[in-house]
Amino acid sequence: MIDETTIKEPPRSAEGLDTAVAPPLLHRPRRTRRTAALRELVAETVVPASSLVQPHFVLPAERGREEIPSMPGIERLGVEGLLHRVEADLGLGLRSVLLFGIAAAGTKDHEGRAAADAGGAVQRAVSRLRAAFGKDLVVMTDVCLCAYTEHGHCGLLSADGEVDNDPSLARLAAAAVSHAGAGADIVAPSDMMDGRVAALRQALDVNGFESVGILSYAAKYASAYYGPFRDAAASAPGCGDRRGYQMDSRNVREALREVTLDLEEGADLVMVKPGLPYLDVVRRVADLSPVPVAAYNVSGEFSSVKAAAARGWLDEASVVRENLVALRRAGAEILVTYHGREALAGGWLERA
Ligand code: PBG
Ligand code: ZN
Repeated sequence: MIDETTIKEPPRSAEGLDTAVAPPLLHRPRRTRRTAALRELVAETVVPASSLVQPHFVLPAERGREEIPSMPGIERLGVEGLLHRVEADLGLGLRSVLLFGIAAAGTKDHEGRAAADAGGAVQRAVSRLRAAFGKDLVVMTDVCLCAYTEHGHCGLLSADGEVDNDPSLARLAAAAVSHAGAGADIVAPSDMMDGRVAALRQALDVNGFESVGILSYAAKYASAYYGPFRDAAASAPGCGDRRGYQMDSRNVREALREVTLDLEEGADLVMVKPGLPYLDVVRRVADLSPVPVAAYNVSGEFSSVKAAAARGWLDEASVVRENLVALRRAGAEILVTYHGREALAGGWLERA
């Protein structure tokens, strides 16, 4: 309690009219924002380097390096280039990668068989990364068929043009087992077929890969933000779209159901994708998930920032920091982001 006898008289205006004096402010939240040191002291959210996962597009060739026009600064790399890039990234504290393969010319077919080719780009990259960096690196692989099917869909296509759920599961499981065989720590199914986590878990276990984890793209929405990625991975559907299997952006209850099912099927980590337009979904999933939650800051989110920054319309470092903080604040502990390397190299995350 304030002792009224010790309280100072409120200041009076020059004319001595106390009617002109505002009442004293009891609450001044600005006090803890005054200096950078105070702001650091009270900051609730951090984005540690250990939370970042850098995606890579791997070419089937040993050498090679191709720019991706719609994703400035991101390249498709041959296995050798990838090894050098990952080594440099490890030096920045970037210890986790998510690999996407590019199919070798002429290997796409109706069923995406090349996805499980032991000599494929991802499989070779995984074994070389494992040999080079051992346990220092977390190697995750995207498991899907769209980069390996002629039609570009994430599962097998039936005669009526629908994506056929159950026959796709064996193909996806075979791809996951081939990644595990090459030495992946975690396989990440992104296809959105029903029951794929259970199918992968069973196939991994039967083949002796009990300790290989599953990061499920559990709540993956049908999104226009994947546009640049489909250029990068040559994985756009030739006809139709993915709305028959990826989720409708208007729904959130469905996301919680997908997450719950994937957890029942044995997912070790769950992901929400895209990230920034779905922060409410990240929060809802984080509130119910007993396993770590990842958010994918997808290609279109990345490219939008890049495009605006290139025109001088946005300050890239500040926007990237704000975006990654937003994903963490929403409850994601793992952030898959193409900004990872540049953010760490530039020290963009060190101070808000
Ligand atoms: C493959 C896959 C996609 C992405 C990740 N895995 C594309 C898609 O589903 O069409 C998108 C990643 C990005 O946009 O950065 N199924
Ligand atoms: Zn796919």
